[in-house]
Amino acid sequence: MSNVFYAPGETRAAKVNDLFAAVARRYDLLNDLQSFCLHLRWKCRVATLAAVKSGDRALDLCCGTGDIAFALARRGAETTGLDFSEKMLEVAAARSRKITPHSPLPTPHFLQGDAQQIPFPDNSFDIVTVGYGLRNLASWERGLDEMFRVARPGARLIVLDFGKPPNALWRKIYFTHLKISVPLIGWLFCGNSQAYAYILESLKHYPAQLAVEEKMRELKLANVRVINLLGGAMAINYGEKPK
Ligand SMILES: C[S@@+](CC[C@H](N)C(=O)[O-])C[C@H]1O[C@@H](n2cnc3c(N)ncnc32)[C@H](O)[C@@H]1O
Repeated sequence: MSNVFYAPGETRAAKVNDLFAAVARRYDLLNDLQSFCLHLRWKCRVATLAAVKSGDRALDLCCGTGDIAFALARRGAETTGLDFSEKMLEVAAARSRKITPHSPLPTPHFLQGDAQQIPFPDNSFDIVTVGYGLRNLASWERGLDEMFRVARPGARLIVLDFGKPPNALWRKIYFTHLKISVPLIGWLFCGNSQAYAYILESLKHYPAQLAVEEKMRELKLANVRVINLLGGAMAINYGEKPK
């Protein structure tokens, strides 16, 4: 049986939006539980790879509750977090309000918008990131084209997402975890197993790190590389827009 939150084609975005509206309040807690908080370390790695320099402008697509956007802002980038989910952005904005009175560090600016039609002109950003977002788009290729378009020459493009482990045994164990334990945690802590069963369903339809790498090469990005995490269960794709 296919997942209630997965639909190919035109209805994809509406279903994905329903999903994140349903889980927004518990999203951060569930991420911590599912990954034993490792997701925070991987997101930090993304921010480190972004190599923020003074005056850099950063865009974090599909920013959700803002982990990567906050990490980039903490490193000094003038950061925009873009997401189409009002509920996820509400959580991000609440986090910003909590930080602001206690910290002199800049916080990101959050904006509602579509990652497949980024509301910024060409060549606007020095850093463009997306964490666990490309897999959710109706067309991940379109998402990457848009990242490329809004990136300035020399900009760093970084994608973090679930991956497909090259080792068949590890892939089987990992997919079983996504099939059984992750929806169970979703049911226990969020009352929603389908929203978490969606991760495996969406991953089946997403060609993951190798195809993202190939597309980055097609776009003629420089210094393209894949960083496999946990034996490829997660992956970071990195590339730079040519100068
Ligand atoms: C799995 S969450 C990732 C959130 C955050 N980047 C993180 O790593 O925790 C995926 C996010 O992508 C957003 N999203 C999905 N499709 C989108 C689109 N077409 N445009 C903008 N945001 C989108 C969802 O609303 C959701 O907040």
